[in-house]
Amino acid sequence: MENLTKMEQLYEGKAKKVFATSNPDLVIVDYKDDATAFNGEKKGTIHNKGIINNRVTNHLMKNVLEPAGIPTHLVEEISDRETIVKKVTIVPLEVIVRNIIAGSLSKRVGQPEGVKLGSTVLEYCYKDDDLGDPMVNEYHIVAMGWATKEEIDTIAKYALKVNELLTDYLKDLNIELVDFKLEFGKTSDGTIVLADEISPDTCRFWDSTTHEKLDKDRFRRNLGGEEDAYKEIMKRLLGE
Ligand code: TMP
Ligand code: ASP
Repeated sequence: MENLTKMEQLYEGKAKKVFATSNPDLVIVDYKDDATAFNGEKKGTIHNKGIINNRVTNHLMKNVLEPAGIPTHLVEEISDRETIVKKVTIVPLEVIVRNIIAGSLSKRVGQPEGVKLGSTVLEYCYKDDDLGDPMVNEYHIVAMGWATKEEIDTIAKYALKVNELLTDYLKDLNIELVDFKLEFGKTSDGTIVLADEISPDTCRFWDSTTHEKLDKDRFRRNLGGEEDAYKEIMKRLLGE
């Protein structure tokens, strides 16, 4: 890796900061311990969450997804909380994949959490906090110009492949992948890559045997034990 200098902060989100670097095509993401839920209404801290989310995201992108042909923004982890990634324009969508009924789907269809879906469900939400990230479909996405038909087809194909790869990988660690949220970006040459993070903040991970929740739902629902749950995910995935 060339000698990169960390420069001015470009953006601060709810869970991460992004910094410019001396290379215009690369940025540094810096993961925080801040936790929010319900569009920022509930606020707290999960001790060392930033370290765990940084390391879990990079592990999954580097060792599970990239080798299987999913392009990601990952360039290089440079510290416990910081990673160099490709600078992308984020496609303004939350791409949600579901295997088991939980969360907002459980409420929307009036079915209990934990029921296995007959087939995989793919959902899109328009990323806009003021609007509460409303669900949209492919017609809205193309008509609004958030992505082209080709781009959304690529995103859907990658999201379903990520689901297969992560489900299989996690099964061996006795973790059930209930659902998760992905974000995609476009690099300066127009390539669609997986961006953002894949972590207990953005996935529902249940212990396969006990169905214990090992993710941010512990914080969202005031169940307690969120720090231990994040540590358990780190231990199962990274062995430490
Ligand atoms: P949901 O059931 O609340 O719609 O959440 C579906 C998945 O998306 C779940 O794994 C948690 C994740 N998620 C995020 O990553 N960010 C969010 O803001 C929300 C609401 C959900
Ligand atoms: N990203 C959401 C927020 O604060 C929280 C969630 O993951 O539920 O607002």
